[in-house]
Amino acid sequence: METRFEQVAVRRATEADVEAIQRVLAANAADTSLFQQSSGRIRRNLDDFVVAVEAGQQVGCAALQRHTRTNAEILAVAVDPYAHGRGVGAMLVRACMTEAGIAGATFVWLATEKPDYFARFGFRRMSKWRLPLRVVLHKLWLVFEQPASRWLPALYGRHTFMRLP
Ligand SMILES: CC(C)(COP(=O)(O)OP(=O)(O)OC[C@H]1O[C@@H](n2cnc3c(N)ncnc32)[C@H](O)[C@@H]1OP(=O)(O)O)[C@@H](O)C(=O)NCCC(=O)NCCS
Repeated sequence: METRFEQVAVRRATEADVEAIQRVLAANAADTSLFQQSSGRIRRNLDDFVVAVEAGQQVGCAALQRHTRTNAEILAVAVDPYAHGRGVGAMLVRACMTEAGIAGATFVWLATEKPDYFARFGFRRMSKWRLPLRVVLHKLWLVFEQPASRWLPALYGRHTFMRLP
């Protein structure tokens, strides 16, 4: 899978991208809706990730996590702040949507504090209770993998759950 837009290409992540993914997530740490991930967690789930690369430099990342055969979540969408507003985020989201389609996922969703951004791609608001309980509990577990200073913002942040119709 490779999508091109000007000089930026989106491709599957490899072991060599782990540190860069962690760096891009950390560069956007001010955004409380973006979960930070340890290099171990990124490495364990590397098959889920895509990266956006410009001139040999990783400038963005995103992941598609398959919770069940048909249920897939788009997460960890982040672009290096210096590259914001150039369509890189859109390339990453679309790459994940394409991947979800290829994988046969029929329930493609995400949780965000930027619903207007994701509405651009056709995502619509939904109740989180549409998700299997095990998936909601998994999200809750991830909150507590964050540094303690992020627990409250993550728990009480205004996350909007959205899915593709
Ligand atoms: C959200 C994010 C991935 C967008 O990536 P990006 O490459 O900057 O975005 P794009 O270039 O694809 O899109 C830019 C467009 O989206 C709009 N946009 C950006 N943030 C927005 C928001 N919060 N709400 C609505 N629209 C937004 C811009 O105004 C711009 O509009 P235009 O095309 O009409 O000029 C990026 O800002 C980011 O990494 N943010 C921090 C991490 C984060 O919040 N991730 C999402 C967690 S769920």
